[in-house]
Amino acid sequence: MQLSRRGLLFGTAGLAAVSLAGCGAGEDTKQLSGFTGISMPTTTSDRWVLEGADLEKRLKDLGYKTILENGEDDIPTQVSQIQSMIDQGVEFLIIAAIGNTSLGEVLSKAKDKGVTIISYDRLILETPDVDYYASFNNYQVGVLQAKHIISRLGITETSTEKFNIELFSGSTDDNNSQHFFQGGLDTLEPYIYGGSVVIPSNQTELEPTSTDKWSRDVARDRMAGLLEEFYQDQPLHAVLSPYDGISRGIVEALVAADFEPGSDDFPVITGQDAELRSLKAIKEGTGQTETVFKDTRLLAEVAVDMVKSIVEGSTPDVNDLGTYDNGFKFIPSYLLDPVDVTAENYKEVVVASGYATEEAIDNAPAD
Ligand code: GAL
Repeated sequence: MQLSRRGLLFGTAGLAAVSLAGCGAGEDTKQLSGFTGISMPTTTSDRWVLEGADLEKRLKDLGYKTILENGEDDIPTQVSQIQSMIDQGVEFLIIAAIGNTSLGEVLSKAKDKGVTIISYDRLILETPDVDYYASFNNYQVGVLQAKHIISRLGITETSTEKFNIELFSGSTDDNNSQHFFQGGLDTLEPYIYGGSVVIPSNQTELEPTSTDKWSRDVARDRMAGLLEEFYQDQPLHAVLSPYDGISRGIVEALVAADFEPGSDDFPVITGQDAELRSLKAIKEGTGQTETVFKDTRLLAEVAVDMVKSIVEGSTPDVNDLGTYDNGFKFIPSYLLDPVDVTAENYKEVVVASGYATEEAIDNAPAD
């Protein structure tokens, strides 16, 4: 389903209860000031650093007070940062979780104080205390990645040639990971059943293909192991990678095994997040050939609009009520569209939109 920022808006009647619940059970509508705690998960991936600052700026521009913290991939750190935000009296929490099931207890304390909780990009699971979800069509991310492989290699359902592909998924404690993976797998499935796509390692499930904490080094080591075990005497045509940091780890292992980036036998490698280093590789033909761009400026805008709507006494816009079940309920969501980026269109999608300059791409570190 294609969604746009101001796409499909659902009627708000069914959601009124949800947003009122965000104001605290039984409370009279007291005037909110917009005080928001922003909890980001890691600084190892560029986007969260940029988005933390972007969210903070947008909220401050509205005159709202903010607290911004980064959990640095450590769950207890994130929990205590959120607890401290609650203690300081935030009315809203915008959280990109490190562990998707680790926040139940602290969020129940937030809810007792009437805090509205917005799950940011990553869905928080197994708690009734999430009010809204702002993210992208995460399944579509995997679809775009797999389609890139299919079109780059020219695979058709009737191809007699066999293409060897390996699959990587993200961190299993991030709910997005399964959506990206499923989108990719479903798209490749007819070709796998038809026999034109082969996965020599036979690793086709979430767990064995996973990459803890989305770590580049974990991905590099898994790729090195796969090359050693399965590719001594057959070609590797493509690697489905869910995220740019992982893609660069895969490229590192390939280079260490004497594959030459840009040559005909260098595998097609996908990615996600349009990180500068990966855009550089895409532009220069020195590694991965694709990334999925998720315009995080729009995501920040969605989350901030949610806060603003509630402060102003109205109900946030959502465009999806039935995709994201967090184990307790379907979370009212606003989902944005991801966009496929290659050497052919990066100028138009990433540069012309002002997300990155050519200069920043050129000056990014080589790997
Ligand atoms: C996911 C996110 C991706 C990527 C990854 C690693 O949750 O949706 O865009 O950033 O984390 O940080």
